[in-house]
Amino acid sequence: MIREMMSYITKHDHEVGAAIEREFDRQSKHIELIASENIVSQAILLAAGSILTNKYAEGYPGKRYYGGCEEVDAVEIAAIERAKKLFGAEFVNVQPHSGASANYAAFMVLTKPGDTILGMDLGHGGHLTHGHPANFSGKYYNVVAYGVTEDTQVIDYDNVLKIAKECKPKMIIAGGSAYPRTIDFKKFSDIAKEVGASLMVDMAHICGLVATGEHPDPMPYADLVTSTTHKTLRGTRGGIILTNNSELAKKVNSAVFPGTQGGPLMHIIAAKAIAFGEALEPEFKVYQRQTRDNANALASALMDKGFDLVSGGTDTHLMLVDLRKFGITGLAMEKNLDFVHIATNKNMIPNDPQPASISSGLRIGTPAVTTRGFREVEMEKLAELIYLTATDLDAKADYIRDEVGKLCDRFPLYKGY
Ligand SMILES: Cc1ncc(COP(=O)(O)O)c(C=O)c1O
Repeated sequence: MIREMMSYITKHDHEVGAAIEREFDRQSKHIELIASENIVSQAILLAAGSILTNKYAEGYPGKRYYGGCEEVDAVEIAAIERAKKLFGAEFVNVQPHSGASANYAAFMVLTKPGDTILGMDLGHGGHLTHGHPANFSGKYYNVVAYGVTEDTQVIDYDNVLKIAKECKPKMIIAGGSAYPRTIDFKKFSDIAKEVGASLMVDMAHICGLVATGEHPDPMPYADLVTSTTHKTLRGTRGGIILTNNSELAKKVNSAVFPGTQGGPLMHIIAAKAIAFGEALEPEFKVYQRQTRDNANALASALMDKGFDLVSGGTDTHLMLVDLRKFGITGLAMEKNLDFVHIATNKNMIPNDPQPASISSGLRIGTPAVTTRGFREVEMEKLAELIYLTATDLDAKADYIRDEVGKLCDRFPLYKGY
């Protein structure tokens, strides 16, 4: 099916189709360790490429600004109901085009431009949309940041409280892109209550773990929870906003449409609905557990090889390697791994001496390789290949590429495509 779709596109538009075919080849023959990526099912791929892209459906089910919305209403209702069940949420908006769009709308509900917001420092594991100067969140808000402790490199909740008391934020944001440890949402909620702030949880990275109980649930504690649907959740690219507060739910709907978006991407909402359906199946829990077990196994194997990990390990699907001991930057390591067909990304470590464009860290995640079928024994092999890349690339590049090729052949991207 996928091959037929690709060759159809190539016949129709060679430039684009050929690039898609080359990308399919790259994904098939490279090992994906980027923590925010995953591999969706063929049904999700087809829904995302379906005729629902033809439809305009501004508004919400039953209250659209266009005719002919009966079927897309059914799709959006299915997505909403499944997401409510999956996350135990009373209200879900499934229309945000992305995680950043979901956060933009959530900011609009809980804050006004000029307010003080307290989010995790990007260099300590936060995200651009939590107050980076180049992002809307950093341009329109007074941003104060919290981080991790100097020694244990986990969130310093006492310090979060101290900072919150000083800066009196309108909103506190919990969640991040490169934080490998469990986040204590109750502690964040207690801090928010103590200083009269709202609590927004961005669970984009850990969404799949939360859905299956592999990470504590933010729903009982947060005013709003935002997420992407394409990382651990293994759905199409997109965003969602969840709440148990009916007043906030109304405001969320207005903030998404017409506040920050126009027509919803109905093909993507259909793909989200399928992803939520898949996530409700018992196998999805097994997958999330294995993702964590793999991360744990890879973290241990890397530490056995002498790598330092920020915070000394992981509780989730990702880890952050501090490369300084090996005398190599994050940028160089990312490039070297790419050269041997292993995809990762450079990442700042807490108090990084390097600028973000170079970085001293490497972020590694296991969601995609776990989807392909990798288990603990393959994690041992990956640690060996990463170690050889860091220490002996010139002599071992052919061997590493060979081993990557064998793993990719044993665990195809799509079986029987
Ligand atoms: C924590 C967090 N929030 C939001 C986003 C933004 O998601 P998107 O790229 O879909 O806009 C990301 C993506 O990396 C993320 O890690």
